[in-house]
Amino acid sequence: LKSELMAAVKAAPDAPALEELRVSALGKKGRVTELMKSLGGLDPEARKAAGQTLNVLKQAVAEAIEARRQVLAEAELNARLAREKVDVSLPARPENPGRLHPISQTMDEICAIFGQMGYTVAEGPDVDDDFHNFTALNFPPGHPAREMHDTFFLPREIDGERTLLRTHTSTIQIRTMEQGGPPIRILAPGRTYRCDYDMTHTPMFHQVEGLVIDKTTHMGHLKGCLIEFVRTYFEVDDLPVRFRPSFFPFTEPSAEMDIGCDRSGGELKIGAGGDWLEILGCGMVHPNVLTACGIDPSEYQGFAFGMGVERIAMLKYGIPDLRTFFESDVRWLDHYGFAP
Ligand code: PHE
Repeated sequence: LKSELMAAVKAAPDAPALEELRVSALGKKGRVTELMKSLGGLDPEARKAAGQTLNVLKQAVAEAIEARRQVLAEAELNARLAREKVDVSLPARPENPGRLHPISQTMDEICAIFGQMGYTVAEGPDVDDDFHNFTALNFPPGHPAREMHDTFFLPREIDGERTLLRTHTSTIQIRTMEQGGPPIRILAPGRTYRCDYDMTHTPMFHQVEGLVIDKTTHMGHLKGCLIEFVRTYFEVDDLPVRFRPSFFPFTEPSAEMDIGCDRSGGELKIGAGGDWLEILGCGMVHPNVLTACGIDPSEYQGFAFGMGVERIAMLKYGIPDLRTFFESDVRWLDHYGFAP
């Protein structure tokens, strides 16, 4: 029995098998225990001798089991260490931190430049109503300009007003003036929507609007701020500019600002060169707009401007097709995007 048990202990493959073996030998109904119980039937002399032998056997088996248990535990630990080894010398997996989209980058840049001049950022909703997008901005009822903007009207009225996706950020001029009186000096970046699609138009695009209202604000301030802006943004100190008379219902007089460029070399270069490029719309806020917002035009006056973010990003970074901004091509984003 001893050699049989010893061999079985040595062969036990793992801790559960070893425990099973222990119970079958030394447990309450184990083979060694049963033998001990049978001692009672022997006469005293024989019982003493057999008892000693059995005790030695029991002791030896218990020790062998304990030794085997330790061997198995150590083997298990070694196996686990090998399995869970961390190779600290491996190079790290490349992280993909993402990039600022050129639109975000450009809007941040515009806000930073005007921020230096004391403008703060204002916001308004993408879904607005006819009043804020047109009426308060002095678009007469039924005026073709309302349709000129290729407006996305929404199938819902609020307080009797048609709702729409704003066609320009000029809605934020109105919302800002409604929220509080002058002095006002805000910059409003945001998404705008027009039903149009080609190389230079997408149904959603971005604008940045500016609005300044105070008692003595005049056209010279408008020109000064915008000249400072374009020269900083395009990083050309002596960038030529010109203001061409134009028309917007909400400004009077109205102008479009052009910057100098050079097209002679086949590709477009921003700077002196005799050619002109339109870059934004601007003007003095129309008295009707001030009145619609509860501001007295005999006391206050101001200027406003609005520019297309994609357009001025395309000009600065030489991006030829507006639609690529929204195609989410990672190679394009890596090329024009900026690490955070
Ligand atoms: N809202 C005009 C547009 O979208 C731009 C503009 C803004 C013009 C402010 C004048 C003043 O074309």
